[in-house]
Amino acid sequence: MRNVAIVGTGYVGLVTGVCLSEIGHNVICIDIDQEKVKKLKAGKLSIFEPNLEELMITNIERGRLSFTSDHAEGFKDSEVIYIAVGTPQKTDGSADLTHIEQVAVQIALHAKRDVIVVTKSTVPVGTNERIKEIIHEYLVSDIKIDIVSNPEFLREGSAIHDTFNGDRIVIGAECEHAATIIEEINKPFQIPVYKTDIRSAEMIKYASNAFLATKISFINEIATICEHVGANVEDVAIGMGQDSRIGTKFLKAGIGYGGSCFPKDTNALYQIAGHKDYSFHLLKTVIDVNNKQQTLLVDKAKKRFGFLKGKKIAVLGLAFKPNTDDIREAASIFIINRLIAEGAGVTAYDPIAVKKAERVLRPEVQFMSNIEKAIHGTDAVFIVTEWREIIDFPLKKYVELMNRPIIFDGRNCYSLNEMKKFPIEYYSIGRPI
Ligand code: UGA
Repeated sequence: MRNVAIVGTGYVGLVTGVCLSEIGHNVICIDIDQEKVKKLKAGKLSIFEPNLEELMITNIERGRLSFTSDHAEGFKDSEVIYIAVGTPQKTDGSADLTHIEQVAVQIALHAKRDVIVVTKSTVPVGTNERIKEIIHEYLVSDIKIDIVSNPEFLREGSAIHDTFNGDRIVIGAECEHAATIIEEINKPFQIPVYKTDIRSAEMIKYASNAFLATKISFINEIATICEHVGANVEDVAIGMGQDSRIGTKFLKAGIGYGGSCFPKDTNALYQIAGHKDYSFHLLKTVIDVNNKQQTLLVDKAKKRFGFLKGKKIAVLGLAFKPNTDDIREAASIFIINRLIAEGAGVTAYDPIAVKKAERVLRPEVQFMSNIEKAIHGTDAVFIVTEWREIIDFPLKKYVELMNRPIIFDGRNCYSLNEMKKFPIEYYSIGRPI
């Protein structure tokens, strides 16, 4: 078992720290936000992630997981330091590496023994080499530093499950010794390991997210064509997916991808790819299709009503996907901003994301404590996130509570056959009306 430090207690850092302690390592998580560290020490999370809090408390109690704001304390016994700080998007779309560089300096100043520095954060190709350069520039002790790229593939909302059931662990290293230690650390997860060089590992992460985003934009384009030609995109996706070269996953048409990863990483890769004689056209189209897709429901409603001024519209679901309270780059934000700009009155409901949404959304939005209240007396309902609670909501209630039941479903939550049993005007994505 190894002594491991993790810098950054966001989704990736915290999940990595908790899961590594769960498989037996001694883990210390470091974050410069002292308030956050205080909460974590008391077993409290500032993010919603199923099963994470329970697992964190268990490992704090076992004495295998601790937290600090002090880099010197965090690094003093560590054989391996994971970097898991954010790489937010800059205004030009590229990744901001300020936090990464700051961590590299801290490692140089405070690491006291030979150490393997593992980058979990999503970083442009060449960043790990830059990390090594910075560490050597500021290094105060006579120690050996090895660098490893170990990108993260977990999804928000199923992060613990994904960590224990991932498809692969990618290890990009410059020396076999460092790669072997990271492979050993991860052995209890029993997940296939793919070892490669550092630059290829960095690229695998961006290429994977860009490919998944491409699948989503592709099926969304097919959905639009299905609407024109009278086909059903769900049947099309099943029939396509039965070809094992295509696969059924990530072919769910909807209102585009959101979240803290796909939008940021596709933009960053587009930036990285651009040279004076080369541009990643395909990825640019994927991004453009997604931007348009995110407000498709507003276009559909405008087509139906002619204008939205004075209409009362309920938005059900604010998180970028179910089982998370994360609303970063969520379609709900773009939809609500456009609805308000068009002069509509907006009520909104989400099982857990309201607190975060209130900080971001316009003050005109009326947040409601349940679905009934949100849809009461409205002219249209937009279904934006496919929460179980929303899928299971009885259709007859729309008939009872709305002015005239019209639903624009951005996630194809209801079966067309079921919907036919109710006097509801129903518009979904890529399916016959
Ligand atoms: C994504 C990747 O799935 C992870 O592998 C990766 O590690 C992570 O980004 C990251 O880079 O950190 P995440 O953003 O948590 O994970 O969420 P996903 O479940 O992938 O969903 C992303 C978005 O795509 C959501 O808005 C979802 O509604 C949408 N989506 C997904 C579709 O519209 N259709 C689909 O078929 C699948």
